[in-house]
Amino acid sequence: MAGGSAATQGGVHVRLGREVHLVSRPRGRFPAAGDTRIVEVPVPEPGPGQVVVRNLFMSIDPGLVLRTNDLSRLDIPDFTPGEPMWSDAIGEVVESADERLGPGDIVWHRFGFRDYAVAQAGEFRRVDPDAYPSLTHHLCFGLTAYVGTEVAQIRAGDTFFVSSAAGAVGSMAGQLARLRGATRVIGSAGTPEKVRYLKERLGFDDAFDYHQDVRPRLPELDVFYDNVGGAQLEAAIDAMRPRGRIVMGGRNEEIRTGVVQGPRNMMAVIGKRLELLGYYTFDHPELFPVFDERFPRWVRSGEIVVAETIVDGLENGVDAAVNLMHGAYVGKVVLRL
Ligand SMILES: NC(=O)c1ccc[n+]([C@@H]2O[C@H](COP(=O)([O-])OP(=O)(O)OC[C@H]3O[C@@H](n4cnc5c(N)ncnc54)[C@H](OP(=O)(O)O)[C@@H]3O)[C@@H](O)[C@H]2O)c1
Repeated sequence: MAGGSAATQGGVHVRLGREVHLVSRPRGRFPAAGDTRIVEVPVPEPGPGQVVVRNLFMSIDPGLVLRTNDLSRLDIPDFTPGEPMWSDAIGEVVESADERLGPGDIVWHRFGFRDYAVAQAGEFRRVDPDAYPSLTHHLCFGLTAYVGTEVAQIRAGDTFFVSSAAGAVGSMAGQLARLRGATRVIGSAGTPEKVRYLKERLGFDDAFDYHQDVRPRLPELDVFYDNVGGAQLEAAIDAMRPRGRIVMGGRNEEIRTGVVQGPRNMMAVIGKRLELLGYYTFDHPELFPVFDERFPRWVRSGEIVVAETIVDGLENGVDAAVNLMHGAYVGKVVLRL
């Protein structure tokens, strides 16, 4: 059910909304029954400068599973037990006490995991509802992959390999690498169906299942976009050309297994003068206007295909985040509220 419900308190009509709270940090890798709960709360009237937004869609991504844990030593914001969880979301303004936003405006923000978001207007970014064929596309990780492929400084003629290529970031990174001039685009994924999807639908030159030995599948690489870590990172280091670039996007293997597996061939990083490039999307606001101008055009023209899976219902959000880590979906996972 979208949009929560209503009740009457002291003769006053009160809007109610659901929120997903983290109750306690998981004891295992993933949140289990009882670690999260849905709470119904009254939605406050907007205070000065505030707006009330009814959420329509929210992002499901590996960060959600990661943030249920204590991340204080990693400099990554985590969820606080006893408080609502959060995630990227798209919603519609229903009430506003700020002149910059009005009812009907569609906004992007970071207060997912709830039916209604109430916050200062500056926390919401108005988006063009017609920019993409679907509102859900505002949540695809095109921006992350755009930043990552910029950090990688992809050049014409590059051979490019991306891990978790059928995922939200990976599916975008492969297509953006091609648009930036890479002549050979290779991806890895966890099932034969995903491998086929990469080659037949997303135009990858080659794709393979990483459950096989990946080393024989890798030609000499100029760029590796790593979403996973572990054995694939080690194999890619061996396959890199001198002065190649490795973009460190994410650590899916570490998130799924909890095992921190470092590559055993770091000497090759020195020998080949490789660049290991960690990045964080929101550190690059200078790229956002260029992205906003180019990316919707590429999607509308079909040059970029947005791979996407929609899951329904706020009550299914936490399970969807866990299922995602087990490889259940293709592309960006969006929860419809
Ligand atoms: N730096 C940033 O600013 C930034 C921003 C957004 C996301 N990220 C990170 O980027 C990475 C990708 O994000 P995403 O949203 O696109 O997620 P994603 O890659 O779609 O993540 C889920 C997929 O990871 C794969 N996977 C899980 N465990 C794996 C393992 N042990 N080995 C190989 N693949 C495994 C599964 O696909 P298969 O079926 O193929 O196994 C699963 O479908 C994540 O680590 C995320 O935290 C970073």
